[in-house]
Amino acid sequence: MRVIIVGAPGSGKGTHCKRIVEKYNVAHLSSGDILRHERANNTDLGLKAQSYMDSGGLVPDDLIVAMMAKAVKAAPKAGFVLDGFPRTVTQAQQLDASLEKADRKIDAVISLTCTDDVIMKRLTGRRSCPECGAVYHVTNVPPKKEGICDECGAELVHRPDDTVDVVKNRLDTYRQQTAPVIDYYKSNGEVFEIDGSCEAEETIIEIFKVLDKFAAQAE
Ligand code: AP5
Repeated sequence: MRVIIVGAPGSGKGTHCKRIVEKYNVAHLSSGDILRHERANNTDLGLKAQSYMDSGGLVPDDLIVAMMAKAVKAAPKAGFVLDGFPRTVTQAQQLDASLEKADRKIDAVISLTCTDDVIMKRLTGRRSCPECGAVYHVTNVPPKKEGICDECGAELVHRPDDTVDVVKNRLDTYRQQTAPVIDYYKSNGEVFEIDGSCEAEETIIEIFKVLDKFAAQAE
């Protein structure tokens, strides 16, 4: 099963991907997580990506496409869920072209909707684990011990791009450059719009209803 989850920053992509991976055994390919890993390791790519990420802009397409092509190629037979990629129409076209060469295609695109108010509250309250990538929220999804990751015991961080001003820029970037990706897939495949602003449990039930169909086809 090959799935894309698209939505504004804070719409819940990472949160729901965790459940999708648990249920369908697919790989979670998050461009944001891969970039943060590159940054933490001070790689050439990580250093090049730094200023774009910190300002809420997008890392150039050529860097991202090469990085994600590698991740897609290494994904298991069960498939993958792409989170944060493709984020421009150029990225989507290049992803489709490379899948086509391998006689493959994206099965479904899940588009999560969410209001700006909800997004701002979620992102300014989000706490992330720099070690294992687990995600919390100070009030919605608090860790058992304040500031400490339940999964691996590392100290949680407030992402530098989760401040009010940078979130505003990320929302503008999303509207200008990523929203057109949804239209691109509407004319090229199946897009399922799901309300991402309600309780996480309600949203994941709707996502599972869509994906169960594709998982059954893949068997
Ligand atoms: P990236 O890491 O992909 O950030 P993003 O898309 O902005 O998404 P987020 O991770 O912020 O949000 P999310 O939707 O996953 O929400 P989450 O589930 O954590 O990208 C970062 C940067 O990298 C970009 O700005 C760009 O510079 C660069 N980049 C990445 N990919 C790129 C690409 N393809 N091209 C170019 N540049 C790229 O939830 C948020 C919070 O809300 C959490 O605290 C969570 O606990 C809480 N929450 C979630 N759902 C619910 C719910 N239903 N109810 C209550 N609380 C909830």
